[in-house]
Amino acid sequence: MDNQSKILVIDDEPIARITIEALLSPENYKLYFAENGVEGVALAIEIMPDIILLDVMMPGINGFEVCRQIRLIPNLAEVPIILITSLDDRESRMTGLKAGADDFITKPFDIFELLVRIQNMTRLNRYRLLMEKRQEAERLNNDLIIAYDKTIEGWSRAIDLRDKKTEGHTQRATEMTIKFACAVGLDKETQVHIKRGALLHDVGKLGIPDSILLKADTLNAEEWEIMHQHPIYAYNWLYPIEYLRPAIDIPFCHHEKWDGSGYPRGLKGNEIPLAARLFAIVDVWDALISDRPYRKAMLPNQIWHYILEQSGRHFDPEIVEHFTSTFAKVSETSK
Ligand SMILES: [Fe+2]
Repeated sequence: MDNQSKILVIDDEPIARITIEALLSPENYKLYFAENGVEGVALAIEIMPDIILLDVMMPGINGFEVCRQIRLIPNLAEVPIILITSLDDRESRMTGLKAGADDFITKPFDIFELLVRIQNMTRLNRYRLLMEKRQEAERLNNDLIIAYDKTIEGWSRAIDLRDKKTEGHTQRATEMTIKFACAVGLDKETQVHIKRGALLHDVGKLGIPDSILLKADTLNAEEWEIMHQHPIYAYNWLYPIEYLRPAIDIPFCHHEKWDGSGYPRGLKGNEIPLAARLFAIVDVWDALISDRPYRKAMLPNQIWHYILEQSGRHFDPEIVEHFTSTFAKVSETSK
């Protein structure tokens, strides 16, 4: 933003323009002059002033009308307008206010009063413009976040399609993980990263050949080794994407196990990031409540039994307790 505030003076009297110029020239302002209302409105549109000093009594369109016209121009609707008037009566001031003026200065000018008013108005206007720019930046940022999240949801659906996962598994597991994260007291910002991580938990499977990913039979040792690369692929793809870096824990660590028997790094206990420990239990829960080609869905009491059995093996015991207290009632009612 230019440091010099732009002041537009609209006044038909040469002596008034000369006086204002003489008063304001020593100050750090860029001055523009118009001799009538029509010229003034045109110049205002062209230069977008920080403040307008507007004479009321002018031939052609008077100051009130100029004020009304300027207020109808979107980018000038908020620009401060000071009416210069020799009419010190209440009625003309009311007309000026209704036309959209912000303040009044009475001729002949009091130099000090004029300078103070202009300084205050320009400062307020700068503040207003900064606020508008900040709001615009926030709006653009929000739009960008929405676009990012839509993109992630699209990727997530593409991953599920290729993996031929049970209909809606990723979406359900993501929603349940968010509820769980909320229940254990994680803040909103962390929940956003967890949501993105959960949606992309198996993005690394895009690097696994169909012959392994879609194989109906049990995988052999060599194939398992390739399959176990999918969290590493996810890490390598997501790490360079700055806004997804905080979401990487779930795609990278969702196959780690509490007792250290998981992959890809064999992390143990609290070495496994919390987001991945939360997701691991939800992922298994949702897989077990669904029919798979090789088995029927398990009953809720069988699933609870399995999850409790895996406490301290696959799952973090403390997280299992939280999971039980958070979702046991839900599962009771859905039996
Ligand atoms: Fe996975």
